[in-house]
Amino acid sequence: MGAQRGRETTPQHVAFVMDGNGRWATQRGLPRLSGHREGIGNVSRIAEALVACGVRYMSIYMFSTENWKRPGEEVDGIFELLVEWLGSTAAGLKDNGVAFRHLGRREPLPLSMLRSLDSICGEAPAAVSLVLGLAINYGGRAEIVDALRTLLAGPMQPGEIDEAAVSAALYTADMPAPDLLVRPGGEQRLSNFMLWQVAYTELYFSQVLWPDFDELELERALSAYRERHRRFGGL
Ligand code: IPE
Ligand code: IPE
Ligand code: MG
Repeated sequence: MGAQRGRETTPQHVAFVMDGNGRWATQRGLPRLSGHREGIGNVSRIAEALVACGVRYMSIYMFSTENWKRPGEEVDGIFELLVEWLGSTAAGLKDNGVAFRHLGRREPLPLSMLRSLDSICGEAPAAVSLVLGLAINYGGRAEIVDALRTLLAGPMQPGEIDEAAVSAALYTADMPAPDLLVRPGGEQRLSNFMLWQVAYTELYFSQVLWPDFDELELERALSAYRERHRRFGGL
């Protein structure tokens, strides 16, 4: 869990809440979906910048279990854009050493999305430069419920269940907890992202809308992180 203390250098895992796509489009008089297209397109820019900085894990919140409340047209449009991105840009990232994980519940994602996710997440590249967790149909509470179901169906007795067992039953089982969580778009909340994992994560909020969140904004977030002093409850 990266439990080193003292001044930080480079985070091992940076988590992002991809927020502000809709407003980015509205401000330009464009339909919200063009903001989603731009925002999804920005993921590779940030992934590549993280690799250049030596960060090993990235996760990105792309569609929440609560986002189903949006109009069907927007939901369908987002899925179409995601499927397109998974088959093109994401596949290119994989060729360049990015290993993908799906973080989220499979049901009720459409078959096209599941196929794309299975294809991108299967067979990791030989040399992995970055592990990228795609939080699609992700909810922090749903993840904890799913972990409880896994544990209850498994061989462990209640008294044997510890924090490591819960961590291993989460969607993020083989990823360390995020060291830094970045939320662009101006909102200062988690919106049900990584509730278990962020126990000791450093939080960074930015006014910049996700489609405009570039290498310079990333450097601002990383340099803010370097100024933090993590204590993990110690002195
Ligand atoms: C984030 O952008 C993408 C998703 C939640 C799917 P939003 O669509 O939430 O953009 P805003 O917050 O309305 O600007
Ligand atoms: C959080 O953004 C979910 C994702 C980025 C996928 P929202 O735009 O859905 O969050 P709220 O509704 O402002 O809390
Ligand atoms: Mg939003």
